Amino acid sequence: MDIRQKPRRHSLARRTLVRSIELACSALGGRAFYRSRFLGPGRLVERCETLRVAGFPRAVRVAQLSDLHAGSFLGPGDLRHVLERVAAHAPDLIALTGDFITHDPKELERVLDELGSLRAPLGVFAVLGNHDYRGRRDAWIVEQLASRGVRTLRNEGVRLELGAGALCVVGVEDLEESKSLDFAAARACVRAGDFELVLSHHPALARHAARERCIAVLSGHTHGTQLDLPFLRRAGPAHPGLRVEFGPTTLIVSRGLGAIGVPLRFGAPAEVVIVNVEPD
Ligand SMILES: [Fe+2]
Ligand SMILES: [Fe+2]
Repeated sequence: MDIRQKPRRHSLARRTLVRSIELACSALGGRAFYRSRFLGPGRLVERCETLRVAGFPRAVRVAQLSDLHAGSFLGPGDLRHVLERVAAHAPDLIALTGDFITHDPKELERVLDELGSLRAPLGVFAVLGNHDYRGRRDAWIVEQLASRGVRTLRNEGVRLELGAGALCVVGVEDLEESKSLDFAAARACVRAGDFELVLSHHPALARHAARERCIAVLSGHTHGTQLDLPFLRRAGPAHPGLRVEFGPTTLIVSRGLGAIGVPLRFGAPAEVVIVNVEPD
């Protein structure tokens, strides 16, 4: 079965309009506004999700950060409060689920120091989002992340021993923009009896993960619709919900941290997702 999703392509006129709005908002102080309104104390949402999994070896806490969209509305220092809150939860593992940049790979440099400060005993893992393939410099992005201790999983998995069992963190390339997508290769490290946590920027992977009985898929991409207004809902990617059960697999979709187009969110706050995986 084909896992790939048709990329959404916008007309030049629409892209020019959105970019013009973005530049105007930026010139009017959009970045400072976005930081104080959505990323600061009392504004940032910390969403906690609990997964009870039969036979899971021990409790594991995962902090998920998604859709930073470094660029006009997110730059150096803007994630300070986010990182403080992540550290306060003392996660065992950190998952970064793509869309680090907005338009240009160099935008990554605006958040690289802060990403490099993330620490978790089981590791800091990432997958790429559709924006991260801009200019086909995804390899450079992966290199920069690696230099700061973030391991990007490109159709690959990492097997983590948890005492009486193992958790495989499986990461796939983006379903829309990657040149190669191979879920089977990503799962090559999985042994019988292992538990699988899948990182996929695009939430559409969940149905395929359910077939493999993965415990969860962590995704982003939709921004929770960012401007969750009836007449704007069709402007962004389809929004499957924040938590959806697909048989044995729980899909958790982060609303993300950054913004595209305008430095605004409505009905879809910026968030960090804390996933507590516990033995049942
Ligand atoms: Fe995004
Ligand atoms: Fe995306």
